Amino acid sequence: MRRTLVLLTAGAVTAAAAVVALSPSANAATTLGAAAAEKGRYFGTAVAAYKLSDSVYSGILNREFTSVTPENEMKWDATEPTQGTFSFGSADTIVNRAIANGQKVRGHALAWHSQQPSWAENLSGTALRNAMVNHVTQVATHYRGKIDSWDVVNEAFADGGSGARRDSNLQRTGNDWIEVAFRTARAADPAAKLCYNDYNTDGQNAKSNAVYAMVRDFKARGVPIDCVGFQSHFNAQSPLPADYQANLQRFADLGLDVQITELDIEGSGATQAATYAAAVRACLAVTRCNGITVWGIRDTDSWRASGTPLLFDGSGNPKPAYAAVLTELGGGTTTPSSPVPSSPSPSSSNPAAGCTATTSVNAWTGGFVVTVKVTAGATALTGWTVGVTVPSGSAVTNTWNATGGASGTFTNAAWNGRVAAGGSTEFGFQGTGGAPAGAPVCTAR
Ligand code: XIL
Repeated sequence: MRRTLVLLTAGAVTAAAAVVALSPSANAATTLGAAAAEKGRYFGTAVAAYKLSDSVYSGILNREFTSVTPENEMKWDATEPTQGTFSFGSADTIVNRAIANGQKVRGHALAWHSQQPSWAENLSGTALRNAMVNHVTQVATHYRGKIDSWDVVNEAFADGGSGARRDSNLQRTGNDWIEVAFRTARAADPAAKLCYNDYNTDGQNAKSNAVYAMVRDFKARGVPIDCVGFQSHFNAQSPLPADYQANLQRFADLGLDVQITELDIEGSGATQAATYAAAVRACLAVTRCNGITVWGIRDTDSWRASGTPLLFDGSGNPKPAYAAVLTELGGGTTTPSSPVPSSPSPSSSNPAAGCTATTSVNAWTGGFVVTVKVTAGATALTGWTVGVTVPSGSAVTNTWNATGGASGTFTNAAWNGRVAAGGSTEFGFQGTGGAPAGAPVCTAR
C-alpha cells in the first residue's frame, strides 16, 4: 500500500514537472541564480574583467548569476606584479560591479604555487614566507568587507597516491605555510569565509583524504577555516566521480561549508547535460553545499574552450546543459532567449503610461558604480530610456543590462524592455570621475 502511494506520489510529481516544463508557471524561477536562491544557494561564474564591455557576456552575467569569481584578476601576479606595489584595478572593476548588482564575490586566490609574479617565484625561505604574509594581508585588507569567501590556499596537495603536499616554493618555506595563510587572512578580513580549494579532490582518493585530514586537524586545533572548494573540472580523463556527493558530505560533516567552485564539464548535448544535472544534484543533496560556480559563461570564454564545457554556446545561447541545470535547481525550462510572455499591450486610451527610475550610487575617489531601478507605471512598458546628468569631467565607461550611456542616456537592452505594469527591472553603469547626482528621468518608448 505504502509502495503504491509512493509510486503514485512520484507519478504526480513527474506529471507536475512535465507541466512546468511545457508551460512554466509565473512562479518558476527562470534564471540559474533565482532558482538556486530558492534552494538557499548561490549560482556563480568566473568572470574576466576585459570581457565586461561585451554586452552579450555582461547581459548573461547579470541575468543568470548571483556570485562571481575573478578568473585571474586577484591572483598574485595580477595584484602584486612588483614586490610591495599593488595593482587592484581589474579586480576592483569586477568586485564593485558585482556588489552594485547584488552578487557575492569569491576571492581567488591568496596563496598558490601558480601564477606567481616572477619576483616571488625567485624568493625562498623567510623572505618568501614574509612576502606571502604581506601579500595575504594587503589583498584581504583591500577587499575587507566585500568578499563572501576567499580561496585562501589553492592546490597545495600533490596528485596521485602519495597524499603528500605539492612541492612548491611556498611548501618549502615550511609545512605550516597553509595555516599561517589562513590565520593571516582571518586577521585581515574577519567577516570573509575562508576556504581551501583544490582539484582531483572531488571524489574520495588519496589526495582528498589528505585534504580531509588537514581540515580535520585545522578544526581540532582552531586554525580558522570555513569552507572547502571542489574545483570540479570534469572530462573523459577526469569524470564526475560516483562518490562525489558522499565526498562533499564527509567534508561538510567536519563542520564547514562546501562549494563547487570551478565547474566545467567537457562534452555536448544530452550527455553533458546529464552530467551537469548530476553534479548539481549532488550539491543540492548536501545541506552545507551552499554554492556552485561554473568556470566561465560561454564555451568560448572557457580556459578549455575546445572541450565546449560550459552552459552557454559561443553566441550566448543556453545549451541543453543550461536547461538541465535550471530544471535540477527547480526552475522553469523556458530559456531566456525565447520571447518574453507578452504583457498587456499599452493602450492609447491610457495616457498615464510611463515609468520612474531611482538610483543607488556607490562612489569612491575617482570612480563610481550606479545601479538604476526602472519601475513601470500603470501600463506595461515595451521599452524605456533613462537619462542621467553625467558631471563634466566624468565619463561612463561600462554599462550593463542597457545600451548607451556615454552621453548619459540609457536605453533598455533586448531582454529587459518589457516590464509588467508596476514591475521593475535594473541596469547599471560604471564610470570615472564624480558620480552623477540628481534624479534620473525615465521615459517609456
Ligand atoms: C585558469 C584560468 O581560467 C585561465 O584563464 C588561466 O590562464 C589559468 O588559470 N584552477 C584554478 C584556476 O584554481 O585559477 C585556474 O584558472 C584553473 C584551474
